[in-house]
Amino acid sequence: MIVRFDNVGLAYDSGSESLRDVTFTLNEGEFRFLTGPSGAGKTTFLKLIYLAMKPTRGRMTLFGQDVTEAQRDMLPPLRRRIGVVFQEFRLLDHLTAFENVALPMKVAGVNQQQYREDVRELLNWVGLGSRMDALPQTLSGGEKQRVALARALVSKPDLILADEPTGNVDPQMGEKIMKLFVELNRLGAAVIVATHDLQLVQALGKRTMQLNGGRLIEDAPMRERGRMR
Ligand SMILES: Nc1ncnc2c1ncn2[C@@H]1O[C@H](COP(=O)(O)OP(=O)(O)OP(=O)(O)O)[C@@H](O)[C@H]1O
Ligand SMILES: [Mg+2]
Repeated sequence: MIVRFDNVGLAYDSGSESLRDVTFTLNEGEFRFLTGPSGAGKTTFLKLIYLAMKPTRGRMTLFGQDVTEAQRDMLPPLRRRIGVVFQEFRLLDHLTAFENVALPMKVAGVNQQQYREDVRELLNWVGLGSRMDALPQTLSGGEKQRVALARALVSKPDLILADEPTGNVDPQMGEKIMKLFVELNRLGAAVIVATHDLQLVQALGKRTMQLNGGRLIEDAPMRERGRMR
């Protein structure tokens, strides 16, 4: 089991809950789209999974380990198994595109020779082969998004979380990115993609769940739903 939530609730500060009674399981090799209106709790849901916050109630398991009351030193090895494409990119301004993508490997203490080719290949794949030495402030929104995507994938994570990964790219690149997630899933990674792009969701026919006002509504694959109507 990759992720399990049991009646999870999350309240920021002392406000009302942004997630309520969320029960959810993601197994090895599963792919899930996460949809829902702005403010529904999609980013909050992903933040819990990548251990940026703890639930304020309920229990949560990650890679088979209960992390609800985990000690701090237990978390980094779990986090390293997760690749995150953040909604707002979170690139470091003083590092080039290449250095941003390489950073997770550098931080993990891997020798540059071992990841240099992977970083190049990923940047080429996302169409930034000629911008590897560019600083983020000289890149467009879509280019930054693609750097963030490459960075999330460089450590070959077991779980990929993507928050609106196609929000800043043209439809063609959006389709290419979504198909990459499907391919990575086929190769074994579990994937959750939060997106407003219902057209792409429908085209790919993957299992979809929806958040609404902090509550999770599980769904059948979009294609099957279409057939049932
Ligand atoms: N740091 C925070 N402090 C207080 N409230 C927050 C914080 N972050 C999010 N919220 C609230 O939690 C709720 C869910 O926010 P979240 O960012 O998870 O929504 P979302 O579904 O990702 O929206 P969007 O589609 O706009 O990205 C919203 O009501 C938001 O105002
Ligand atoms: Mg969000």
